[in-house]
Amino acid sequence: MTTGTTAAEDCATLCAIGFNSLLAGDVEFARELFSRSVAQDPGYPLGYLGLAKCRLPGPGYIEVLRRLIALVRPARYVEIGVERGAVLGLFPSSTRVVGIDPEPKLRQLPDNVTVYDLPSDDFFAAYNLAELLGGTYDLAFIDGLHEFRQVLRDFINLERFSGPESVLLIHDCLPLDRRTAAPERETVFWTGDVWKIIACLKNERPDLGLFTIPAYPAGLCVVTGLKADNLVLADNYSRLAEKYRALDYDAIGAESDFFSLVANRWPEIAARLRELQPGRGPADERGE
Ligand SMILES: C[S@@+](CC[C@H](N)C(=O)[O-])C[C@H]1O[C@@H](n2cnc3c(N)ncnc32)[C@H](O)[C@@H]1O
Repeated sequence: MTTGTTAAEDCATLCAIGFNSLLAGDVEFARELFSRSVAQDPGYPLGYLGLAKCRLPGPGYIEVLRRLIALVRPARYVEIGVERGAVLGLFPSSTRVVGIDPEPKLRQLPDNVTVYDLPSDDFFAAYNLAELLGGTYDLAFIDGLHEFRQVLRDFINLERFSGPESVLLIHDCLPLDRRTAAPERETVFWTGDVWKIIACLKNERPDLGLFTIPAYPAGLCVVTGLKADNLVLADNYSRLAEKYRALDYDAIGAESDFFSLVANRWPEIAARLRELQPGRGPADERGE
């Protein structure tokens, strides 16, 4: 097949044919077209989104979250970085939901949801999350600023309000390439250096349970075994922030090991979570 494109290739055309090829099941050809779009113009986001689709087939992160919510059945949920509320809308009215975002793009909120228009650091300086939620959270989601040091602070702040069975999720931890994983944003599609939190948690907090689901567009990390009174990360914040921020992209090496990947298939995800939290009954694994 030929696209008939020339040296000055049109990214919109390349990507349109790329997505059609994906629909037709020709992943390799789609990947080639998206790669050409990215080479032509890295600022054109559909090229990277297409590459992410080729790389991470299966349910996207929203669908995985929907099943995790059905499994965990959270009474209390907190999300850093809510944007349009795509995830907030997945919860039943019985879940107490707190969202944090300096620029939320939401209109009306149901009674069970409160969104604080603040950067996460300011929120944690001003509020006691446990008081707002009425207890420790069952599920938390970090999806705010895609910068390792911020993610580390978000993790430290959230862990203070965790309970023994809390589950904490981190978005955008599985980078696509060096450019979109740069600490400073160069591209519209940008996961930043969130990925460094994986190395930091695995090395500095081996007591945590951790695995990563390779869900589109950029992976979902699941962390368990949180301890509200563990101060290892907080007490060493400055040193750890510099040490892991300095990691080079090549440090990733073998992805499966680095990220502790679990296949993006629900039975495997549910089984892994149950290994980490044996208190969850088998019925919960349906996640429906
Ligand atoms: C990728 S969007 C979140 C998407 C949302 N979680 C979802 O799944 O639909 C990232 C959001 O993080 C917010 N954000 C940026 N810096 C932040 C910070 N310091 N604290 C909290 N949120 C932040 C942005 O305003 C943006 O709305």
